[in-house]
Amino acid sequence: MDASKPSKTADLVAAVRARHLKIYNPPIFVDPFAIQFCGKGWRRILGSKFLSWFVIDFMLRDILPLAPWIATRARYCEDIVDSMIEQGVEQYVIIGAGYDSFAMRRTDLENQLTVFELDQPGTQNEKFRRMAEYSIPTPKNVRYVDSDLNEVPLFTALKENGFDTSKPTAFSWFGVTYYLPLETIAQTLQSVADNSAKGSALFFDFRVVLDQVPSEWVVAHQKSAKFVARRGEPILTEFAPDELSDLVLDCGFSSTDIPDTDTINLQYFSKMPASQKLTPTFRLCHAIC
Ligand SMILES: C[S@@+](CC[C@H](N)C(=O)[O-])C[C@H]1O[C@@H](n2cnc3c(N)ncnc32)[C@H](O)[C@@H]1O
Repeated sequence: MDASKPSKTADLVAAVRARHLKIYNPPIFVDPFAIQFCGKGWRRILGSKFLSWFVIDFMLRDILPLAPWIATRARYCEDIVDSMIEQGVEQYVIIGAGYDSFAMRRTDLENQLTVFELDQPGTQNEKFRRMAEYSIPTPKNVRYVDSDLNEVPLFTALKENGFDTSKPTAFSWFGVTYYLPLETIAQTLQSVADNSAKGSALFFDFRVVLDQVPSEWVVAHQKSAKFVARRGEPILTEFAPDELSDLVLDCGFSSTDIPDTDTINLQYFSKMPASQKLTPTFRLCHAIC
């Protein structure tokens, strides 16, 4: 992807969070800023019953079942962040932040938590433009780190922006690993494991390698890869869960948990119809330093 241009997948996931809030009752993740952060095209689609039906329910029907992952990973992430803050964590790094609105929603943490939002310049500048367009104030506790993980190791960029390596830190990395080459993923994992204080943790999602995707989901998995590739963000890396777990441990983390999808479904979607539950195409990972 061209780092100087805004990410189209960041736009897409903001639209999915906005739609989630509109149609799920109760929603599992509430992001009232998402509708302002998704681009004009998606806002127009979400604002029209006909366009929503035509574009989302009809044109995108094969990949639509993957959408619940986007609200789920955000909820899973913020549940962990909340518990780490309760344990005294004072730094939170959002790697590939896109249009994440955590700091805007959690102004109660302004004097307690420093948030580092790392993204490429194109997406970060577009985020600032959209914040200005909707008069969204810049949260006082955010440091915006404009960096490309393929060019600059994570901790080099963080240290240049005032990150304190002596403090236990929460790191989230959602919706990003699949767009990175394996080399960058390994380097980023190593960078967190080597430089973070004890008590730090990294949580992220990954795409399951095709030969481990159950046959009924293969078409959705392949079509979703084509959909993002057409938007200039091809899928570069997928993992078998065991292989990912080995990589995380080899990079120096002390333990890792890849929760079972049925458990996550039970935790967040027990009251939802089967059609709105999680597909076996993505997995979550919680790695402890
Ligand atoms: C699908 S979006 C996810 C955004 C956000 N984490 C979320 O879940 O809403 C992927 C994000 O990763 C960022 N990204 C992709 N490649 C990157 C790289 N090499 N370095 C830094 N950020 C990158 C994109 O700019 C984009 O904001």
